Amino acid sequence: MTQIRKILITGAGSGLGFELASRYLEEGCMVFACVRNEVPRLRQQVKSFPGMLHVIKVDLRCKNGISSLSSIVSRHAEMIDVFISNAGIMHRNESIDELDWKKIHESMTINAIAPMFVVKSLLKSIKNSNSPKIIFISSLSGAIGRISGFSSLYGYKAGKASLNMMARILAQELKPEKIPVFILHPGTMKTKMGPKNAEMTATAASVKIIHLIDKISMKQTGKFLNFDGTELLW
Ligand SMILES: NC(=O)c1ccc[n+]([C@@H]2O[C@H](COP(=O)([O-])OP(=O)(O)OC[C@H]3O[C@@H](n4cnc5c(N)ncnc54)[C@H](OP(=O)(O)O)[C@@H]3O)[C@@H](O)[C@H]2O)c1
Repeated sequence: MTQIRKILITGAGSGLGFELASRYLEEGCMVFACVRNEVPRLRQQVKSFPGMLHVIKVDLRCKNGISSLSSIVSRHAEMIDVFISNAGIMHRNESIDELDWKKIHESMTINAIAPMFVVKSLLKSIKNSNSPKIIFISSLSGAIGRISGFSSLYGYKAGKASLNMMARILAQELKPEKIPVFILHPGTMKTKMGPKNAEMTATAASVKIIHLIDKISMKQTGKFLNFDGTELLW
């Protein structure tokens, strides 16, 4: 008998996260969709996929909310097979004059620190899976080597660069236990966050990313990968 795969996605109320959740539900997976606020269209999905979608309200700025994730998940499932850290935040128009203490803290917390604490909270469930995968949705914006000329978005870019480093460390730590960790650039997408000239819709990106997640294995653990599977430079 094939087991139903269990997927947990943060930032699942909009953009890429919502599309990933929808694709996995269509594939017959059980999805834990973490959202900051109530999302009416997820309520609709709960009706369309009875028993398969669990919506968890958690603000990633809240340490206690993150640490309670494990007990919420374990009420419905013993394991998480795929964890996708997708939530992110971008404060625009940051120049050195505009640097704002609170906004930088928020960017670092949501883009880099919270994803690690979500893993910490879920690790037991992830280890219970026969074929676990940990995915961090990062960005090319976090690649320090790509910066040329003035490049703003201090909080977003530094947040993604820190995420990349922490994910890389995690990959090394979890290697002996054969838990692969991947850092993915999803492409530019037409979402709340994405640029006007984005290369694709979040729906198209979700299909490519799920295909990539299915394909990648321990051989690529700790790598920074583009949505098409090519390796990226840090
Ligand atoms: N769009 C692009 O072109 C692009 C390019 C490269 C990388 N990415 C990355 O792709 C991922 C998905 O982004 P997207 O384009 O789909 O943008 P999006 O629609 O803005 O999605 C970001 C998600 O993160 C959630 N989030 C933000 N702050 C949160 C908090 N404090 N607690 C819990 N959730 C929070 C948002 O929830 P709310 O809806 O409640 O705000 C939203 O659902 C992000 O990590 C982003 O950095 C995007």
